[in-house]
Amino acid sequence: MMSFLSQTLARVKPSPTIAMTGRARELAAEGRDIISLSAGEPDFDTPLHVREAAKAAIDAGHTRYTAVDGIPELKAAICDKFRRENGLDYAPSQVTVGTGGKQILYNALMATLNPGDEVIIPAPYWVSYPDMVLLAGGTPVIVEGEMQNGYRITPEQLEGAITPRTKWVIMNSPSNPTGAGYSEEHLRGLTDVLMRHPQVWVLADDIYEHLVFDDFRFATPAQVEPGLKDRTLTMNGVSKAYAMTGWRIGYGAGPETLIRAMAKLQSQSTSNPCSISQYAALAALTGPQDYIRTSREVFERRRDLVVAGLSECPGIVCPKPEGAFYVYPSIRDLIGKTSAGGTRIETDEDFASALLDETGVAVVFGAAFGLSPHFRISYATSDEILTDAVARIRRFCEGTR
Ligand SMILES: Cc1ncc(COP(=O)(O)O)c(C=O)c1O
Repeated sequence: MMSFLSQTLARVKPSPTIAMTGRARELAAEGRDIISLSAGEPDFDTPLHVREAAKAAIDAGHTRYTAVDGIPELKAAICDKFRRENGLDYAPSQVTVGTGGKQILYNALMATLNPGDEVIIPAPYWVSYPDMVLLAGGTPVIVEGEMQNGYRITPEQLEGAITPRTKWVIMNSPSNPTGAGYSEEHLRGLTDVLMRHPQVWVLADDIYEHLVFDDFRFATPAQVEPGLKDRTLTMNGVSKAYAMTGWRIGYGAGPETLIRAMAKLQSQSTSNPCSISQYAALAALTGPQDYIRTSREVFERRRDLVVAGLSECPGIVCPKPEGAFYVYPSIRDLIGKTSAGGTRIETDEDFASALLDETGVAVVFGAAFGLSPHFRISYATSDEILTDAVARIRRFCEGTR
């Protein structure tokens, strides 16, 4: 059977976050009392006006194939969004719409990578980046951001990772899994390096743009350094900003040659993203924006709740992130200990499975994101559930010897 499957597929692994969510779901189906903090999606409903727009789109007959990479109205709305929120001027011909931000990233890598091409990926990283690079035949080059640096990579680290084969560097701020944000100043340090290496393109994954807290101000590389705009793909989407993960609409903007190549790929794979979802995304981008403020306030409160709770767990160190809806605590002090249930904790994977077995709390282990020993909590769930989860984690930590 193995030989029937492609060699390309053998290079990649299934998404560990989806696997963990699945395992938690199975245990819950068996009747166990499970709290899943492993999925990366807002727990809110899609705003009402967006849902109404989708229903209206069905009734208006927008149920057929559309232009391969997005209806003109949506592309125009995306251009407005970039101008309004990011100070970036793109023409509609420089915009592409796909089935989630995920397809935009996938298209970009598939459309550009040749064997031997390197892609710099700061760790901890979103689980799909390295595997997408491998699927596209490229080589991921991992650069570790340290906890002491707020999980951000430094200009020196970036400089040290660049080779003549470097094609892309992937930037993700605020980050999944750490919530770390790169301020304009942090980005400036990196864009200065990139200005000296004209062969390197920037893939900016801005999907958590609107989820930023305290006085952190979001910035994106093409805005910080306009000199990089003609080799940057700025990616974003409606999934996290408007609680629309299931609608599957993401978009990217960049040089026309790249955008055209991505559309060509899409034309031979999925064709257009769902017509109804495109009209829903149009309503999200052009309608009232109050959902963004409300969700930001809620997530900020939950972040504070989780960080405060985890800071009282012996053996856990939990930095306070600038954005997204994740925390990425260290469990260095728990390594080598044994849980109350008798599991010896050698790795963060041992920690996550013992935590699930003994307390019912599902988290994702750090090795999945390329930086150990840590774990990721998604706090996109209710305050009550979070309070319960944090109490269980605390008991688990207190029980280790
Ligand atoms: C960092 C990051 N980028 C991109 C995506 C893809 O989002 P979507 O395909 O739903 O637009 C996600 C979703 O989890 C993410 O966390």
